[in-house]
Amino acid sequence: MGIFFIPKATSCILFLFLMSCTCFISTDAYDPLDPNGNITIKWDIISWTPDGYVAAVTMNNFQQYRHIASPGWSLGWTWAKKEVIWSMMGGQTTEQGDCSKFKGTPPHCCKKDPTVVDLLPGTPYNMQIANCCKGGVLSSWAQDPANSVSSFQVSVGRAGTTNKTVKVPKNFTLKAPGPGYTCSPAKIVTPTLFIQADKRRVTQALMTWNVTCTYSQFLAQKTPSCCVSLSSFYNDTIVPCPTCACGCQGNSSQTGTCVNGNTPHLASVVSGQHNVAPLVQCTSHMCPVRIHWHVKLNYKEYWRVKVTITNFNYRMNYSNWNMVVQHPNLDNVTQLFSFNYKSLTPYGTINDTAMLWGFKFYNDFLNQAGPDGNVQSEILFRKDKSTFTFDKGWAFPRRIYFNGDNCVMPPPDAYPWLPNAGFRQEASLLALVMSSLVALAFYAYV
Ligand SMILES: *[C@@H]1O[C@H](CO)[C@@H](O)[C@H](O)[C@H]1NC(C)=O
Ligand SMILES: *[C@@H]1O[C@H](CO)[C@@H](O)[C@H](O)[C@H]1NC(C)=O
Ligand SMILES: *[C@@H]1O[C@H](CO)[C@@H](O)[C@H](O)[C@H]1NC(C)=O
Ligand SMILES: *[C@@H]1O[C@H](CO)[C@@H](O)[C@H](O)[C@H]1NC(C)=O
Ligand SMILES: *[C@@H]1O[C@H](CO)[C@@H](O)[C@H](O)[C@H]1NC(C)=O
Ligand SMILES: *[C@@H]1O[C@H](CO)[C@@H](O)[C@H](O)[C@H]1NC(C)=O
Ligand SMILES: *[C@@H]1O[C@H](CO)[C@@H](O)[C@H](O)[C@H]1NC(C)=O
Ligand SMILES: *[C@@H]1O[C@H](CO)[C@@H](O)[C@H](O)[C@H]1NC(C)=O
Ligand SMILES: *[C@@H]1O[C@H](CO)[C@@H](O)[C@H](O)[C@H]1NC(C)=O
Repeated sequence: MGIFFIPKATSCILFLFLMSCTCFISTDAYDPLDPNGNITIKWDIISWTPDGYVAAVTMNNFQQYRHIASPGWSLGWTWAKKEVIWSMMGGQTTEQGDCSKFKGTPPHCCKKDPTVVDLLPGTPYNMQIANCCKGGVLSSWAQDPANSVSSFQVSVGRAGTTNKTVKVPKNFTLKAPGPGYTCSPAKIVTPTLFIQADKRRVTQALMTWNVTCTYSQFLAQKTPSCCVSLSSFYNDTIVPCPTCACGCQGNSSQTGTCVNGNTPHLASVVSGQHNVAPLVQCTSHMCPVRIHWHVKLNYKEYWRVKVTITNFNYRMNYSNWNMVVQHPNLDNVTQLFSFNYKSLTPYGTINDTAMLWGFKFYNDFLNQAGPDGNVQSEILFRKDKSTFTFDKGWAFPRRIYFNGDNCVMPPPDAYPWLPNAGFRQEASLLALVMSSLVALAFYAYV
């Protein structure tokens, strides 16, 4: 029986794994740690004009941990008729297009497919509206709900002037700023209600439509941007990030060049080029960000982990960074030192995922590579006697995201062992088969 049991279980697991792989690819936009995450764009018509309407457009980032960092979002669409934008507040189109047919003051934009970006902080007050002018930066829902919304106002001409003649724009595209988001068609929904500030009167939009955009890491087609290294008090081995996790040294076609951390005149090398491409320190993994998980101490009732996030990118400061960790003991976090913490329960009952981010004005800013380019914290877990073990790499995280990107983990068979732990050939064999399957699935997709 035993002889048959293992292959059967293995093939079953492989089958399930294969299934989940195909699901992952075919559903396009699906993040297992934030299955309901999306960015919703709502258009509220707040008044009719002689030849069209004025709409307030609101973008809500309902993603738990994926934010939009500088240089910010851009939103595009295609008009259904021959609409033009007479004017805008709190945002602007990137191009005006051909307005030569118009006499008098030309419209703000005559393009069939306008692209709108946010205005910058410090915009004159008469061009602002609420929630605008943040340079397109949009916080995540869990980290900073107050700043997870962005708005602008458009005055549209040559459009319909009743809710029967207005045609909703088509083909919405959201860039953040690169690819990754897919947007649904606009859907006419029940008009939004606006409660006045004194809460004594409720007004309502004349017409409302919603667009939902979801993110897919496959669509973003990014090379990995972070990796994980591991160590423990019970084993001297430091398990580094996998070699070439984000690119290989000396291969500039993949991630750009790297610079040696010990280069004399490093500062001038780094600042000499005005470029936004990442410039990373030369490492075996070539990742801009590394997360190190060190199992530090073992108490009778508790155990303690030290987490260090290191920035290897000389051209990037990460403001409002966040990380997501999946570990079975996250249901019993007793204390977190110097990071904020929020448990995410994507599947209701399973409480094994948490989001961590820095304290405002203390360590929410991860400096560019260099002596200050790291932030750290310690986590104290309470042991659950029925599950706790240092064996088989249990104390290490299952999955880590940095700023919404999945970080490359070392292979499970490389995890630091407890002294005297047996040779786990089976596990490593399984891991090997699985990782080659993942690679296959990934390349098949690309
Ligand atoms: C978008 O996200 C919100 C909040 O998580 C959720 O309530 C809503 O159902 C989502 N919309 C879609 C179309 O998935
Ligand atoms: C248009 O407005 C009328 C009332 O003025 C309302 O009955 C109707 O449902 C609206 N239609 C749409 C598509 O919003
Ligand atoms: C939708 O927009 C994309 C990008 O702007 C464009 O390539 C595509 O042709 C558009 N599709 C339609 C049907 O307009
Ligand atoms: C439309 O989007 C808003 C958020 O911007 C949300 O509150 C509302 O429930 C959405 N309506 C529908 C019908 O999805
Ligand atoms: C760089 O990477 C590409 C694709 O991964 C590979 O074909 C090429 O041989 C590599 N070049 C060097 C110098 O390693
Ligand atoms: C990062 O921040 C530091 C200190 O605020 C600043 O000196 C540096 O120029 C910034 N680097 C980049 C790439 O923005
Ligand atoms: C998950 O566990 C943490 C740590 O014990 C707790 O603070 C949080 O409330 C739990 N979340 C849920 C949804 O049970
Ligand atoms: C946390 O640990 C205590 C002690 O082991 C246990 O009784 C409790 O059920 C755990 N809490 C959760 C949410 O698992
Ligand atoms: C520490 O873990 C490594 C695997 O990463 C293993 O090769 C080594 O034998 C372990 N050391 C001891 C003392 O068990």
